[in-house]
Amino acid sequence: MARKFFVGGNWKCNGTIEEVKKIVTMLNEAEIPSKDVVEVVVSPPFVFLPLVKSLQRPDFQVAAQNCWVRKGGAFTGEISAEMLVNLGIPWVILGHSERRSLLNESNEFVGDKVAYALSLGLKVIACIGETLQQRESGSTMAVVAAQTKAIADKASNWANVVLAYEPVWAIGTGKVATPDQAQEVHLELRKWLHDNVGAEVAATTRIIYGGSVNGANCKELAAQPDIDGFLVGGASLKREFIDIIKSLR
Ligand code: G3H
Repeated sequence: MARKFFVGGNWKCNGTIEEVKKIVTMLNEAEIPSKDVVEVVVSPPFVFLPLVKSLQRPDFQVAAQNCWVRKGGAFTGEISAEMLVNLGIPWVILGHSERRSLLNESNEFVGDKVAYALSLGLKVIACIGETLQQRESGSTMAVVAAQTKAIADKASNWANVVLAYEPVWAIGTGKVATPDQAQEVHLELRKWLHDNVGAEVAATTRIIYGGSVNGANCKELAAQPDIDGFLVGGASLKREFIDIIKSLR
């Protein structure tokens, strides 16, 4: 079964009501391929989720950028998976490297979050990726395998998981992985899924790339056989996000 191209726009901690409305209008007016061939999910900050959901075109979906690890309650400042379900938010990004590094989210904690979100029926964009130091020391595959294992140990439903490979050294740096570098890791991840989860999951799970993707480099990356789309940060706030959506092979 062919894997449908997937493009996520992670707006991170950016935007005002006015700016959000402008981006949504720009995307709503764009001519893009049908949702039968590309799945587009935009991820504004929590506070703008209902606004974006209500204004944006019906063929696009929304994702939260995080959620709490288990059932809600006395956890000041957190947003629970139950709340996302209640608001009709279908997707959530979990394990982003900014949360892993700045907020000390461990592999196990991310695995628990993924498992809990999946158990409530949410779809998850699960992020993994190595630092520059880890890449230079030759441990890229060991790092991303350990991150994936922590998710696989607990994940119940791989049909609702998109795996986002985002090398930390490429995020927000303008230093994109080459198509060969990204393809190499994606292929290894698919082999890892094959050997540790199963052939069906390996063949059907979308593995998307993130890290300085833009309108100029997306086509060459998208042409790689194991790159099934993108998780886009900075460029998802700009018009070139439309070119990235259109870059499907
Ligand atoms: O989630 C998106 C990634 O962090 C990539 O961000 O496209 O700004 O490098 P970037």
